[in-house]
Amino acid sequence: MILPVYVYGMPILRKTSVEIDENYEGLDQLIEDMFETMKASDGVGLAAPQIGKSIRLFLVNAQEMEIDDEPDLKDFKRTFINPYITEEWGEKWNFQEGCLSIPLIREDVSRHSKLKIEYYDENWEFQEEEFEGVRARIVQHEYDHLDGKLFVDKINPLRKKLLKGRLTAISKGKADVDYKMIYPKK
Ligand code: NI
Repeated sequence: MILPVYVYGMPILRKTSVEIDENYEGLDQLIEDMFETMKASDGVGLAAPQIGKSIRLFLVNAQEMEIDDEPDLKDFKRTFINPYITEEWGEKWNFQEGCLSIPLIREDVSRHSKLKIEYYDENWEFQEEEFEGVRARIVQHEYDHLDGKLFVDKINPLRKKLLKGRLTAISKGKADVDYKMIYPKK
């Protein structure tokens, strides 16, 4: 089932998400629905707060992304449950980020190039992995959602000022996208 996406201005996007355990009801279905939602909206990552659940869960699928020198994206499909970034290092670099909760806005964000993350996968197997480049970038962006952070918090203040009108419009549900959005009621 395709789920509606909560957009900029919804309070849940600013909350800190909580960990879940293996008894979390309907988790398999939720993960399936989130993958379906992400595919339908052409996203490469989706975090649970974006579909209205304040839990530490996000997923990525960058298999369709074509970027030079990033062959590892072809197998980059994962479910991250209760993830914890334990280390971030490497030179900071700019990459243009977008977000299904902030439709049609793309801006350069500077982040470390490498990270180490611990998490449980969809089978509740503990995993520890290192990512770099675009894979690290996608993880960093989604991980931020679990802490109530959005990529526009990290852009240059002047750019953010210029985007203010568009962000306000998004929070009123005005964005020409073909997926269903949930925005604050006036
Ligand atoms: Ni996002």
